[in-house]
Amino acid sequence: MCGIFAYLNYLTPKTRHEVLELLVRGLKRLEYRGYDSAGVAIDSADGKDMVLVKRSGQVKKLEEAIAEKFSDLCNEEQIDIHCGIAHTRWATHGVPSEVNAHPQRSDDHHSFVVVHNGIITNYKDVKTYLTMHGYTFESDTDTEIIAKLIHHLYKQHPQYSFRELVEQVIQQLEGAFAVAIKSKHFPGECVASRRGSPLLVGIKTKTRLATDHIPILYGKVPLLPRTESTSEFMPLEDKQVEYFFASDAAALIEHTNRVIYLEDDDVAAVKDGALSIHRLKKCLDDPHAREITTLKMEIQEIMKGNYQYFMQKEIFEQSESVVNTMRGRVNFENGTVTLGGIKDYIPEIKRCRRLMLIGCGTSYHSAVATRQLLEELTELPVMVELASDFLDRNTPIFRDDVCFFISQSGETADTLMALRYCKQRGALIVGITNTVGSSICRESHCGVHINAGPEIGVASTKAYTSQFISLVMFGLVMSEDRISLQQRRQEIIKGLAGLESAIRKVLKLDPLVLEMAKDLYQHKSLLIMGRGYNFATCLEGALKVKELTYMHSEGIMAGELKHGPLALVDDSMPVLMIILRDPVYAKCMNALQQVTAREGRPILICEEGDEETKSFSSRALEIPRIVDCLQGILTVIPMQLLSYHIAVLRGCNVDCPRNLAKSVTVE
Ligand code: F6R
Repeated sequence: MCGIFAYLNYLTPKTRHEVLELLVRGLKRLEYRGYDSAGVAIDSADGKDMVLVKRSGQVKKLEEAIAEKFSDLCNEEQIDIHCGIAHTRWATHGVPSEVNAHPQRSDDHHSFVVVHNGIITNYKDVKTYLTMHGYTFESDTDTEIIAKLIHHLYKQHPQYSFRELVEQVIQQLEGAFAVAIKSKHFPGECVASRRGSPLLVGIKTKTRLATDHIPILYGKVPLLPRTESTSEFMPLEDKQVEYFFASDAAALIEHTNRVIYLEDDDVAAVKDGALSIHRLKKCLDDPHAREITTLKMEIQEIMKGNYQYFMQKEIFEQSESVVNTMRGRVNFENGTVTLGGIKDYIPEIKRCRRLMLIGCGTSYHSAVATRQLLEELTELPVMVELASDFLDRNTPIFRDDVCFFISQSGETADTLMALRYCKQRGALIVGITNTVGSSICRESHCGVHINAGPEIGVASTKAYTSQFISLVMFGLVMSEDRISLQQRRQEIIKGLAGLESAIRKVLKLDPLVLEMAKDLYQHKSLLIMGRGYNFATCLEGALKVKELTYMHSEGIMAGELKHGPLALVDDSMPVLMIILRDPVYAKCMNALQQVTAREGRPILICEEGDEETKSFSSRALEIPRIVDCLQGILTVIPMQLLSYHIAVLRGCNVDCPRNLAKSVTVE
């Protein structure tokens, strides 16, 4: 999805060349989110105008265009105060093109320029209004109306501050947005705001900050009178400060770890080096200040290390990330599990009518993977739902429902809307996310951070296994005082204790998986079959193959084979079957025989040393034996590796598959 990066230096001299380098670097950190064009805006050399550079395609192309346009920039003098804004766009309104790329501008003179994430749903009405007032539009974007509406207001009310103008404008906007705005009329200032789309402000000072809180100014100031702000963040004595506005911590973490997460309808403005946060309305339970948070994320965590692709790194990290998910939660010595984020809500959850697990894509699959175990350990009805379908159906929700929202990014629009739908109806909201401070985190009553570390590859891998474990741990907490389940619980906890080494063993299959990928990569299709605890692996494996390799792939519930999919099987159709020694083993063997009887030649995922099963195929991947309900963590890894290798062999862009984005913040 789109990415915002803005940089303001106050009494921290920088050349325009340095500013451009910073902006481009910020955009590169946002590349993983998926985009199709990029652009920047900085001041002109005399500071009286602005220069916009935009390109379709990769940030690299933008970088080349900047190098060409500003070939003599290196000798320029440093500027004390400057604001630059930058953006990566993922097209929603209007095709990917230079003119549709951001920043979007108000007029030829660049009075106001805007970078925007999200969608303005009433942009047509605003456009009609502005057209009636003589504005003409150069792009097909919804964003352009923001720049022009500010300009329009500025012309009518030149006495307003930049922040007041933006406040006026956001009141007119419907939909979801995060914006950063720069103006020729307000040099050295930057105003940013958000509603439904993430945005954070990074602060960098040479000396320690005097406060950890930025007081919020409340006021119904639409058009006046201007109250002087007494609640600004003032830089320290030396007054030197740099501000970074970004839609994602990854873009600013290399500069500062001191950040403020903006909330919906916050307007953050920097003027004369001071940051103020303003809201038009104050609700009863609104806080008085926004806290400056210290990010714990390390820059190395978001770098590729020795791996060729982020996805590959993230697959191999799973032996560690699963341990991080359990750290401080599972006590292997006394066999207990504590989830601090939901501890206080467990009695309420135990009294609920049913559990609903809601998510999209891979996150949804983690719900499918753990449903059976949660039914067993909680003895409650468990429904798993795709967020989009759940909303389409206006699914009935009750006050005594407990709804889990599972999301790596914590920003997926469908999941977030389903969350708000359930919250309005009085259900208890539990967030399962990987992104601290994300919208789902903040809007949940309680939750579990999966602690998988940043996941940069667009295809989700380590987040899946950590979501899986988080849900298993929840089941263990819920069954803590059930005498009849103690033996089962201890079996599972033992399984969790052995996961790290079991995953390491599975990862050693990599060279063998590569050989299989070489056999498969020129085929058009791959069928993946299994049932019981491993059905979710079939769905997740097929999704990985589709999104990374652009091959057709289908996850098939082995029990459904004779109801249709068997017609696809012949000697040329690639098939992969998961057959483990669990309660559905005999049924899976039955499916295997149905496939081999049609001359299918399946690749098998089976248990180490299971010669009987292996004898049905010449190709098998053997995984260590583990308690049945955790098998899915081990069986999904060969599928992740297989899709990765097929993608590389087919020359696909592993970390940024075509048409996809990491954080899907639109419906
Ligand atoms: C697939 C993938 C997507 C996401 C889905 C939900 O590899 O990454 O299917 O799982 O878009 O995203 P989150 O988990 O961020 O809500």
